[in-house]
Order: sequence, then structure tokens, then C-alpha cells
Amino acid sequence: MLVKELKDKIRDTEFAHCTEAILSLVLDKPRENIKDDDIISDNDVRLCEEFAVDFKKSYPFIYERGRMYFMDIPLIITKDVFSPVFATEPFVNKIINDFGDKKDILEIGTGSGAMAIAIAKKTIANITATDISSEALKIAEQNAKQNNVKIKFIQSDLFENITGTYDLIFSNPPQSKSGDIDTIEKDGKLVIPRLACDGGNDGFYLYNKIKSEAKKYLNNNGTLILQYDGYINIYNYNEL
Ligand SMILES: C[S@@+](CC[C@H](N)C(=O)[O-])C[C@H]1O[C@@H](n2cnc3c(N)ncnc32)[C@H](O)[C@@H]1O
Repeated sequence: MLVKELKDKIRDTEFAHCTEAILSLVLDKPRENIKDDDIISDNDVRLCEEFAVDFKKSYPFIYERGRMYFMDIPLIITKDVFSPVFATEPFVNKIINDFGDKKDILEIGTGSGAMAIAIAKKTIANITATDISSEALKIAEQNAKQNNVKIKFIQSDLFENITGTYDLIFSNPPQSKSGDIDTIEKDGKLVIPRLACDGGNDGFYLYNKIKSEAKKYLNNNGTLILQYDGYINIYNYNEL
């Protein structure tokens, strides 16, 4: 089947808006290298159709393959890191377009480094990225290296090991309710590291902690941006 025929076939599925990202995942290529007249194997057609109906089904596939493209950036993905989702792309683009002139940027909870690397590729900011997981940071460091970007990585529980102040702090914190993860884990279906998705009893534990502690680490005209459930929430220094 041709790529354009597949696009037509999955046009009415729930994740049709992510067709380009799904094709990139399955074909293991950056989007810019996928053309409408390319031929796709029957097996790849089947996978694309499956992920277009339920994107969560792609997670085991990504971890098994051990790599993916996020915004055309090649990334190593292991069981120690969150596999970045295309729903995060508008968040990254917002930072690049509206805050790309900021000098010092801090990310809390970088996982694979996906967001920090995408921003580093498009801006001249000094980027510091943290994670509580030292295993995740090892992967993020490898990803930064293979993408030729310079990022300062710090192992830290939220702001614990942060000493400087920043013009912009951003985070896509863990945001599922612990109880929901318990259920998925009990069913043997948890593929994402628990640390990357457990947001406490109400899902807001880390979000609220970052929001309440960020001011101390922001410059006077600085901004905090947090993603929650696909929404981008922007807080200026004086609102914190
Ligand atoms: C939802 S993932 C986001 C990863 C990456 N920013 C992305 O969007 O692909 C959340 C990340 O926060 C990290 N994390 C969890 N608790 C943390 C804490 N207390 N301090 C710093 N990072 C934490 C997890 O290890 C995980 O990498």
C-alpha cells in the first residue's frame, strides 16, 4: 500500500491527526523522509491502523524497538525513560516560538531529554535539565550527544539540587493518579516507568509542588510553564 492510501484509510480514526507521527514511529524514519508515494508493508499498515485507533498500543512497540523520533529528533528510549508523546509537541513549539529568546532555561523531569533537546536545537538558550532518575539522565545525556546539543544535566528531586535562577522553567510532570497506575500495574500493562507517570493521589502532587516552589528559582521577570493533560499553563513571576 502507498503512504497516501494508508492516510486515506485511517482518516476517520481517533488519532488521525497524528498520522505523520504514527508513520514516523512505525517506519522508523523522520517525518521529512516519508513521502506519499512510498510503499508500506502489510505489517506496517496493520501497526499504523492499530495505533491510529488506540495510540497507547504503540508504547510496548516503542520500548521494544528502543528508539523513536520526536519532532524528527532521533532518541534512544529504554524502560528507564518516558516515551515522549506527540501531544507534547505544541508545548515545545510554544516555548520555541514565544520564549526562544530566553537566556537561561530549566526543565524539571526531562526523561529521555526529548523536550530539552528539541528546544536546544532551535534556540541559543543555556538549557539545564533535571530528573530524579539517574538512569533516565544517562539516556538523556546519550540523546543530547547523538543530537549534538549541549545541555547541563542535574540529578535532582524537583529543585533540591538547583542553585541558580532562570528566565524560564518548564515541566511536563507525572500526572496520573496513583490508584489508576496501581490498576494498570496489577493488570501487567504498565510499560512506562512508574516514576514518570505517578502524580500522587489526585495526579497533581508534583504539578502543585513545582508551582509552589518555582518562584525562588525564577528571575524577576521569569515564567513557569507547566503542561497538564494536554493544557499549557503559563505563570508569570508575579502570579506565583
Ligand atoms: C511525564 S515524564 C516527562 C518526560 C519528558 N519531559 C517528556 O515530556 O517526554 C516526567 C518525568 O519527571 C521525572 N520525575 C518524577 N518525579 C520527579 C521529581 N520528584 N523530581 C524530578 N523529576 C521527577 C520522571 O523521572 C520523568 O522523567
